Parts: sequence; C-alpha cells; structure tokens
Amino acid sequence: MLDLHGEYQLFRDQIREAVDAVLESQRFIGGPAIAELEQTLCERIGTNHAVAVSSGTDALVCAMMGLGLGAGDEVILPSFTFFATAGSVWRLGARPVFVDIDPRTFNLDPKCVEAAVTPKTKAIVVAHLFGQCAEMDEINDIAQRHNLAMVEDAAQALGARYHGRSAGTLGDVACLSFYPTKNLGGFGEGGMTFVGDDTLAATIRTLRNHGESSRYFHDRVGGNFRFDTMKAAILLVKLKRFEEFTRRRRQNASRYDELLADTPVETPFVDGHQHAVYHQYSILTDRRDELAAWLRERGVDTGVYYPLGLHLQQCFSTLGYRKGSLPVTERTCERILSLPCHPMLGETDPDRVASLIREFHASTTEAKPQAGATIGQS
Ligand SMILES: Cc1ncc(COP(=O)(O)O)c(C=O)c1O
Repeated sequence: MLDLHGEYQLFRDQIREAVDAVLESQRFIGGPAIAELEQTLCERIGTNHAVAVSSGTDALVCAMMGLGLGAGDEVILPSFTFFATAGSVWRLGARPVFVDIDPRTFNLDPKCVEAAVTPKTKAIVVAHLFGQCAEMDEINDIAQRHNLAMVEDAAQALGARYHGRSAGTLGDVACLSFYPTKNLGGFGEGGMTFVGDDTLAATIRTLRNHGESSRYFHDRVGGNFRFDTMKAAILLVKLKRFEEFTRRRRQNASRYDELLADTPVETPFVDGHQHAVYHQYSILTDRRDELAAWLRERGVDTGVYYPLGLHLQQCFSTLGYRKGSLPVTERTCERILSLPCHPMLGETDPDRVASLIREFHASTTEAKPQAGATIGQS
C-alpha cells in the first residue's frame, strides 16, 4: 500500500544533510526548523497559526482541551474514522455522540448531525476521510445555529480543498498527522493544529508545553505535546515534493475511476466542489474479502479502513450503541476496500490492479468470503 523505501531514496541526501544540521546544532526541541514548518504550512493552507505537536492524536487532544471540552459535554463525530477522533473526546471526559455518514463520500451526513444536537452538545468533529473534505457549508451552518465549536480532523487531508478553501481552514481548529503513512509522512510520530483565532492558538501553544505561561509558571494543565526538531527538519525536505506527490495520487485515482467505471465495484464519489487528495482510494464491493484475497495472491496489497465502526468498539460499549445503530457506517465497514494509490506507483500499476479486478469478476462466481485484506493504520 506504500513504498516508503522508494520515497526515501528520492530525498536521501537532502534528509541526511538536514539531520546533520540538527545534530550539529544539538537543539532537539523547538528551534528554527519547527518555526519554519509551522510558518510554511500556515501560509500554504491560508490560516493564521500553526502549532506543531507530538502526533495527530495529540493535535486533537490539544485542540479539544483548548476549546475547553470536558465532562458533561457531548461531541458529535463520525463513527467511520480512525480511533483517535473519538479517543480524544473520551480522554477529556466528554461524551462521543456517533452519527452516520453519507454512503457515497464516507463523511458525516449533515442530516444526521442536525438530528444529534442536544442542549449538551458543545462541538462537532468532522474527519475529512481519505483526503476528501466533509460537507462543511451545511455542517458549519448547523454549528453556527447551535453555537457549537467546529474541529476538523484533517489528519488525512493536507492539500484537500472545499469550494477552493483548504482543509484546515474550515472550522475553529484543525488537526493534522505526520504519521509515516500520511500524505506528508514524517519519520516517526508528529502532528499539527491549525487555528485562525489568536487566543485559541496561544492557548494551544501553552498546552503543548504543560500549560506553561512563563518558565515554571502554569496557568493551566497541559502536557508534553512538543514536536521534535529533527522530524520538522525532515518534513521541510519532504514538503518540497508534496504538490507533485499529491498530483500523482490524483492521477492514480482518476486512472482507477476510468478503468473501473464499468465493473461491479463502486468507485469513490467526489463532488465538483471538492479537490480530494486520495489519502486512500476506496472502492465498495459486496465481495470485499474475496477480492482482497484474490489481489493479495497476485501480489497486490489492499487495506480495510475501517473494519468496525467506533460506535461498536468494546471500549465504548457503555455508550449504548448496538449493531444497527448506524446502518450506513456498518454496511460500509463490510464493503470498503482501499487500493494502492500512493505516489510511488508506476505509471501502469493502476492498469494492472484494475485488470486484475476485472479478471476477478470475469472468472469467479460468488464464493464464500475469505480473509485477505491488510488491516493497517490509516
Ligand atoms: C482520521 C485520523 N485522525 C487522527 C489520526 C491520528 O494521528 P496520529 O497517528 O498521528 O496520532 C489519524 C492517523 O493515524 C487519522 O487517520
């Protein structure tokens, strides 16, 4: 699903140089590389503040702490997302309220969001899943009418745009991940929050460092959510080819769209006002496990993101959701399959994968599903 070795070879010398410079400086926390990364990404997406933190998960935790979410608050969010989106809400003592998704985009269904608002609701968290933004105009309208904070989980969506506006600028605060598999993948853990408001940005900056307002004086309790200088220096090198890599992802996706159009699988729906960056290219098929096993036997890795909705996870069982609570999410978990779409794919790789999918449908009859798909972190 990824070719990190191949990618590394493209940057090897520059990365070693950047790492060397940090080693020579002996400054491992803070410093110019962090400030430059924050400034560069801020300018790229068009917001006022960026705060680099220790992971995408910690970006969510800092964002929600900064908004003051906690015990007694309800937070509306999708169940069809990576665990961290909900885990962060739970860790702050707030209650995750899971709602269903649009079956075509895999993102929050605004109608379900509206229906879930109660007097206890304090925030909505959208996840721009697989690199496509949620329907922000409708969801922001709900947030404004009910005076709710809006958090974007943009972990998978750096570079995505919605009506021309960048993911990361569409709510009160946005969270990005530099996990190695992400579109801007780092060398280890890392993340960032994007904020328009000066006060919220200043709060998140202090939360990143134990809530310290000045040396050894603490106005609030934060944590050690600091990012590493060396990782920032590496990301600055990788950023140089980010646009090109996004273009390649989009080219792979449109090739799949073309080649799979008249097959029994459903290809991703991307509306005209969306500029998707294809963190994953995810198809839907009733024969998901069988197809995944068939592809794996022929040397093609696939992924299942995600096999179980968060509302049905054991750790959230006390929230009272049951099988059938979120039917679109549950059906999607049974049918979704992500195909390799990363920027290091060869020009003809999508053609090969697509012809294997055609071959599968031409040569097999409905059979008992077998396990076969990789379940990794995305
Ligand atoms: C949608 C989503 N949210 C949050 C995260 C958490 O990011 P991290 O792994 O950097 O903590 C990820 C990635 O893993 C993700 O895909």
